[in-house]
Amino acid sequence: MFDTLDMAPPDAILGLTESFKKDLNPDKIDLTVGVYKDADGNTPIFSAVKKAEERLLSDEITKSYLSIEGSQAYAERVQRLLFGAGHEIVSSRRAVTAHTPGGTGGLRVAADLIQSLRPGAAVWLSEPTWPNHPGIFEAAGMAIKTYPYYDDGDKSLKFDAMLAALETAPEGDLVLLHACCHNPTGLDPAPDQWTQLAAAIKKRGLLPFVDFAYQGLGDGLDEDTAGLRALCSENPEVIVSSSFSKNFGLYRERTGALTIVTKSQETGAAVLSHMKRTIRCMYSNPPAHGALVVTAIFDDPDLRAEWEVELRGMCVRIHDMRELFVRTLKEKGVKEDFSFLTRQRGMFSYSGLSPEQVDTLREQHSVYMVRSGRINVAGMTPTNMDTLCNAVAAAIG
Ligand code: LMR
Repeated sequence: MFDTLDMAPPDAILGLTESFKKDLNPDKIDLTVGVYKDADGNTPIFSAVKKAEERLLSDEITKSYLSIEGSQAYAERVQRLLFGAGHEIVSSRRAVTAHTPGGTGGLRVAADLIQSLRPGAAVWLSEPTWPNHPGIFEAAGMAIKTYPYYDDGDKSLKFDAMLAALETAPEGDLVLLHACCHNPTGLDPAPDQWTQLAAAIKKRGLLPFVDFAYQGLGDGLDEDTAGLRALCSENPEVIVSSSFSKNFGLYRERTGALTIVTKSQETGAAVLSHMKRTIRCMYSNPPAHGALVVTAIFDDPDLRAEWEVELRGMCVRIHDMRELFVRTLKEKGVKEDFSFLTRQRGMFSYSGLSPEQVDTLREQHSVYMVRSGRINVAGMTPTNMDTLCNAVAAAIG
């Protein structure tokens, strides 16, 4: 079975993180995977999470299985975070939510579900997108198509081309959209563009699928739902994959959710029954810990407030690093204008550095970033900024 196997290629993101760990240079800088680091370069546990965990440790009385879709309490809190407590989608109970192992789990469950319900449906991905997106949908057997998204020249959205591409999509295809903090470009549609997208998707009879991995890292927890809500106001069926890796710092606890908005409570129940069949064959039922933490934080006003303050603090630090990076490059005499980085949102900057420049940075300066030129800004600190900018200045030449 295995004798003749060649090595599989390393993962476009996590493979680089592995190489980083092996690098012996004491001044190495990791701007690869989207993991938040504080000013000291650490990835701390949110204090609200730590407190919730301490409570769980003393209060938890069983490790028995959760149900296939996870806890109902968690599902309700996820929906309130997505739509707002008083939203019609929540009160009418026409959306169903399953707790999934991370956002990736949610994407894959949805992909398998759609492939079983409508074999032959394709999924439309932005060009560029998170490098793991194509693999997840391909693994489920879905066909991949792409729509233009980002203009490398003027660092803007190719909105007209995006709309035009979607207008050619056959009815029933999925359109994957990043709710906010687009990964990798950090560039999101403006409010009126979301409205146009929602209308175009409705007109073509497409199914919007929202990847929501960065809620709260853009303009704010509620503000970041604007695109999702615009889609939901036009389209009665919407799929959402949520991740709490970044906004709760729960990365390794694999805490995510798959929410499917349907036309009625009855349809929702049918969808959930099929989601459960998919999940049962994939991982049976979810890991409990992260969902218990999230639920505990939402249910305690003090912990919730503490979490929100910490989350805002992350956003402020990331924004400060964007500005410091641009300023420091300028001070080092770099001619290229990098000011567009301060207009991008979320953890990532699409730097415009070429794959060759990225290779030079890694090989000669131990600065690691994704080959597309994507930089995890949250990996920058006031301490490593000088080394980083010297390296970038040298690599640009
Ligand atoms: C990233 O894009 O770096 C994150 O979404 C983490 C991952 O799993 O790739």
